[in-house]
Amino acid sequence: MTQLQRGFSTRAVHGGEARPNPYRAVTTPIVQTSTYTFESTADVRAFKEAQQSGAPQRRGEYGRYGNPTQWAAEDKIAALEGAEEALLFSSGMNAVTTALLALLSPGDHLIVTQDLYRKTRQFCNTLLQRMGIATSYVPVGDVAALEAALRPQTRLLFTELPTNPYLRVVDLGRIADLVHARGARLFVDSTFATPYNLRPLEHGADLVVHSATKYLGGHNDLLAGVLVGPSSLIGPLREVQGMLGGVVDPGCAYLLLRGLKTLALRMERHNENGLRVARFLESQPAVERVWYPGLASHPDHAIATRLLRGFGGVVSFEVRGGMEGAAALVDALRVPLIGPSLGGVESLVEQPALMSHYELDPVERAAIGVTDGLVRYALGIEDADDLIADLEQALAQVPAGS
Ligand SMILES: Cc1ncc(COP(=O)(O)O)c(C=O)c1O
Repeated sequence: MTQLQRGFSTRAVHGGEARPNPYRAVTTPIVQTSTYTFESTADVRAFKEAQQSGAPQRRGEYGRYGNPTQWAAEDKIAALEGAEEALLFSSGMNAVTTALLALLSPGDHLIVTQDLYRKTRQFCNTLLQRMGIATSYVPVGDVAALEAALRPQTRLLFTELPTNPYLRVVDLGRIADLVHARGARLFVDSTFATPYNLRPLEHGADLVVHSATKYLGGHNDLLAGVLVGPSSLIGPLREVQGMLGGVVDPGCAYLLLRGLKTLALRMERHNENGLRVARFLESQPAVERVWYPGLASHPDHAIATRLLRGFGGVVSFEVRGGMEGAAALVDALRVPLIGPSLGGVESLVEQPALMSHYELDPVERAAIGVTDGLVRYALGIEDADDLIADLEQALAQVPAGS
């Protein structure tokens, strides 16, 4: 049976693991080294010749060019995404910025969706702009606006799926066709979906990125990013990483390997908690609107149902009473911790207007659609009954008619 014919969890547990591992250990060891040695000059020559011929080799020369613990984690992620290759980075942002720097040149044009992760927006508006790379923003789901934004210089469309904080889901196949017809590439940030819920490469994406800090790591204890795609793209990106240097630490790669083994189990629980909590919130008078792609009321419910195996653990909702109502709810919650991020076993809650989107002025925030009463709840894997009971008592503390 080939790796790809195996089920998701079998690939999550065994994919990428060398068998046998050194010392016949079950787990892949942390190879804590900065450099690798050679037996002789002839050995050095053979290594360099093999490298120049382009033959794939899993042998190290220096830590910035790779590490066995990193390679195992990369191969596991590639097996889960159904991709030829994956490349790990020190953070999700490092993966995004390295890809954009490597794939775009002065004079090129980039299209991104409007509610892109704010640091990616900042990168486009500052450093990319300074390099003569123009960025256009299109509303998520507006295919006509995307078509209108395409120019002869357009090289890349970059979108998240689902997006943050409104969990919008673009019609991947449709936008892939549009972009490819104009000779551009589709780059998808699939952090919120994970390969358990969606594999964008199967729907026409050319390159996928994850903040592995989130669901892939899954335990709120590491920072990492990963690019996934065909070797023809990942190979040159590996070269660029060798220059820019944003590599992952072997200890971090080990934590990621460990987290990935339970990805399916965790995602099943995140998906279940997301749907149950979203349905509960929709029935609550103190909640004005719920954004969750698994609900029929979500604008992209039909596309999401077609594309996604599950809808994930993030639920956004607007609380009655704006900033004060949302603050009353957040402060009354007892299970989640207040903080940014998502995808870990511990639930985290935040008000985007005060946390992720605080630096934007109110007009810009309103343009993206982030309201003062919005709460983003990144559900962990706790029991849904506890999460709901906690929300029930906290919602009772939202001032009436405020
Ligand atoms: C969708 C998305 N992409 C990328 C990033 C950046 O990832 P990292 O924090 O690992 O650099 C984040 C971080 O919150 C994110 O939510």
